[in-house]
Amino acid sequence: MWLGLMVRVLTIDHIREIIQRIGIEACFSQLIDVLRDDFSRWQDFEKMPRIAHHFKRGVIELMPICGKDYYAYKYVNGHPYNPKQNKLTVVATGMLSEVESGYPILISEMTILTALRTAATGALAATYLARKNSKTLGIIGTGSQSEFQALAFHIALGVNRIKYFDIDEKAMQKFADNLSAFHLTLIPCKDAQSTVENVDVVITMTADKKRSRILEDRWIRAGMHINGVGGDCPGKTELDPAILKRAKIVVEYLEQSRIEGEIQNLKDPIYAELWQLTSQEKAGRESDDDITLFDAVGFALEDYTVLKYFYSLSEKMNIGELLPMIPSIDDPKNLFGLLS
Ligand SMILES: NC(=O)c1ccc[n+]([C@@H]2O[C@H](COP(=O)([O-])OP(=O)(O)OC[C@H]3O[C@@H](n4cnc5c(N)ncnc54)[C@H](O)[C@@H]3O)[C@@H](O)[C@H]2O)c1
Repeated sequence: MWLGLMVRVLTIDHIREIIQRIGIEACFSQLIDVLRDDFSRWQDFEKMPRIAHHFKRGVIELMPICGKDYYAYKYVNGHPYNPKQNKLTVVATGMLSEVESGYPILISEMTILTALRTAATGALAATYLARKNSKTLGIIGTGSQSEFQALAFHIALGVNRIKYFDIDEKAMQKFADNLSAFHLTLIPCKDAQSTVENVDVVITMTADKKRSRILEDRWIRAGMHINGVGGDCPGKTELDPAILKRAKIVVEYLEQSRIEGEIQNLKDPIYAELWQLTSQEKAGRESDDDITLFDAVGFALEDYTVLKYFYSLSEKMNIGELLPMIPSIDDPKNLFGLLS
């Protein structure tokens, strides 16, 4: 006899099975839609900047958010030197619960879900900020997040040519191998500067715990859109600060981005939060000459959305394990009786 109520648990295998059943393209396009809906309901959520513990070699963060019906949190790290020890830079797990009772309904792996939601959120922002006829994407840093980003931008913007560069040749080869099944023109580059030449959109997603200058201001031409992903911690940024002065900047949640984003290197006000674009309170790109920047750090709402989306898919597909995680007793005051 089970002594507990069942909570759905989604492991890496379950998440992989769900994605394989719907297909990664459909998964991204649906996820972009649900993210747009949730960002447009911005006022429905109780928000706070994530809680971060910083170490010399990385950061560990807790990311909570509360909506009207559901509460979610994610545990995530960022350890840029982990790959040298054969470990991922970013791993994550998370939970979704019902506000009404406070009972958890889902415990999930979130390493893959983080890569999916980060790519889908960047692609969502790019639908408002990139030029409509964008054809070429430049990617700097071809680590764990990179294929997810390439596919999400391909699906959202229709970009088919991808220039890419990483200081690690093995990571570049892996990127090309993983994307060979998709109809993309892949162009390896010898450095960051040549990657940025003649691209419409550039994504930076390198990992280092310092103020880097992955993109120099003089490389950035009118009309470009930048999705800055790797600058997401105090003292960890990727862009020449002069770019920030020229760009129309959009962030997820200003209170958190001021601490963690590229804009920690900027005193001036920024243009908008993403929800203002999705709810049409503010325009996205207004001219073909605008330089636009989505200064992504990763916000709890994206985790909430991806958890809810995968929860609903797992229920429909009957995928996942149901584990007795909540005490099930006739007398709710007799918790001790459970032990006898
Ligand atoms: N904004 C968000 O929501 C979000 C979400 C996930 C990850 N991230 C951040 O994105 C970055 C990438 O994450 P990941 O999981 O792909 O990490 P990863 O370690 O798997 O990949 C990073 C890649 O960057 C390359 N690199 C480092 N310095 C470089 C340089 N100067 N030029 C070119 N390439 C360089 C490395 O060789 C590596 O292949 C990390 O900084 C991570 O913290 C942000």
